[in-house]
Amino acid sequence: MIINILAVDDVEANLFSLEALISSNKIGNEDVKKVNFIQALSGQEALKIVLETNIDLILLDVQMPEMDGFETARFLKLNPKTKDIPIIFLTAAFKAEEFVKYGYEVGATDYFTKPIEKYQFLNKLNLYINLFAKTKKLKQAFISLEEETKKNQQQEKAMIEQSRLAQMGEMISMIAHQWRQPLGAIASTTVNLQMKLELEAFDFSTEDGIEEAKEYFKQRFVNIEEYVQSLTTTIDDFRNFYKPNKEMVVTTLESVIDKALKIITSSLEDQGIKLICNYDAKDTIKLYDNEIMQVILNILKNAQDNFTEKEIKNPEIIIITNDKSITICDNGGGIPGDIIEKIFDPYFSTKDEKNGTGLGLYMSKTIIENHHNGKLSVVNKNDTKGRSIGACFTIEIFED
Ligand SMILES: Nc1ncnc2c1ncn2[C@@H]1O[C@H](COP(=O)(O)OP(=O)(O)O)[C@@H](O)[C@H]1O
Ligand SMILES: [Mg+2]
Repeated sequence: MIINILAVDDVEANLFSLEALISSNKIGNEDVKKVNFIQALSGQEALKIVLETNIDLILLDVQMPEMDGFETARFLKLNPKTKDIPIIFLTAAFKAEEFVKYGYEVGATDYFTKPIEKYQFLNKLNLYINLFAKTKKLKQAFISLEEETKKNQQQEKAMIEQSRLAQMGEMISMIAHQWRQPLGAIASTTVNLQMKLELEAFDFSTEDGIEEAKEYFKQRFVNIEEYVQSLTTTIDDFRNFYKPNKEMVVTTLESVIDKALKIITSSLEDQGIKLICNYDAKDTIKLYDNEIMQVILNILKNAQDNFTEKEIKNPEIIIITNDKSITICDNGGGIPGDIIEKIFDPYFSTKDEKNGTGLGLYMSKTIIENHHNGKLSVVNKNDTKGRSIGACFTIEIFED
C-alpha cells in the first residue's frame, strides 16, 4: 500500500528538509510499498489537497501567515471527510507551551518542536506509518468481507425470488386442478336449469307448479353459491401462502401439513396418487408456517414429478408426524445413489429447464436449517431384498 503524507509550511526550505528526512527513512514494513510526500505552502492549499487526495497524515506548521496551523486544523476537523486524518503540529520550541494550550484542543495527535531532531522524528514517523498500515489492512479486509457478505445475501435473495417464481407457476397449475370440480359443477347446474326451462318441466299455470319451480331453483342457487365460495377459498389459501411470514406463529405441525394439503390434494388426486396421513404430534410449535408449507409442498411436488416421470403404478405418499418431525415417504423407486448427495445443492436438477429449477430442495434446506433450528434429511427406504422402494424426507424442528 501507499502512505500519503502531507506537509504544510509557508517556508519552502522547511518543506525541503522534511522531504529529505522522510526520503532517507527506512520503514521496514513490507505492506508499505511507498511513502508519498505531498507539500502545501499554506493552510488554504492544504484544505484543497485533502479533499482531492487520500491523505494519511498531516504535518502542519503552526506559524503561517493568513491561516495559521490551528485554524487549518479546525477546518479539517469540521469536515467529516477529513476529520479523522491525524495531525502532527510543527511548532517552534519556544512556542511549545502555546501549542499545548491550543493544539490538543483543535484535535492534534502529536507535535514536534523545530528544529526537528532527526532520529526522534523518524522513530515516531515510523510508529505512525506502521499504525496506518495496520489500520488500512484491517479496513481493506473488513471492506472485502462486507462485500462478500453483501454478494452472498444478494445471491440468496435472487435464488429465493427465482424459486418462488417457479413455485408460483406450479401453484397456478394446482389452482387449475382445485377449480376444475367447482367450475364443472357450476356449469352443469346452469345447464341443468336451462334444460328444465326449455323442456318446460314446471307447470307455471298452477300454484303448486310455481312453488315447485321456486324450490328447485332456490336449491340450485344455494349450490352455486357454495361452489363459488370454494373457488374464493382456494384463491384466499394461495394468497395467504404468498404473504411472507414476518413473525413466527405458534401452531401444530399437523395444521401446517393440512394447509399445504388443501393446496395440492386435488392435483394429487387427479393423478391417482394415494395419500396416507398418520399424525402423532399434537404439541404446539413455533415456526414460520408459510415457509414450512413451502417445504412440504416442494417435497410432495417432487414425489409427484417422480411418479409421472417413472410411470409408477399405484403411486402412494405417506406422511407421518412425530413430536417435532414430519416424514414424507413415497414409493417412486427412490433417489439414485450417485445423486442423493447432490439433491440439496442449488441448481441441481435431473429435470429439463421447463420442469425444474433445482432450487426447491436447496430452498427447503435453507428454510429448515437457517431460518429454523432444524434439519432436513433424506434416505431411500428399502424392501427386505434391499431394493429401493422410495425416498423418505424428514423435517425435524428443534425447540430453541
Ligand atoms: N421423491 C423423489 N424421488 C426421486 N428423486 C427425487 C425426489 N425428490 C427429489 N428428487 C431429485 O432431486 C432433484 C432436486 O430436486 P429439487 O431441488 O426440488 O429441484 P427440481 O425439482 O427443480 O429438479 C430432482 O431433480 C430429482 O432428481
Ligand atoms: Mg422440486
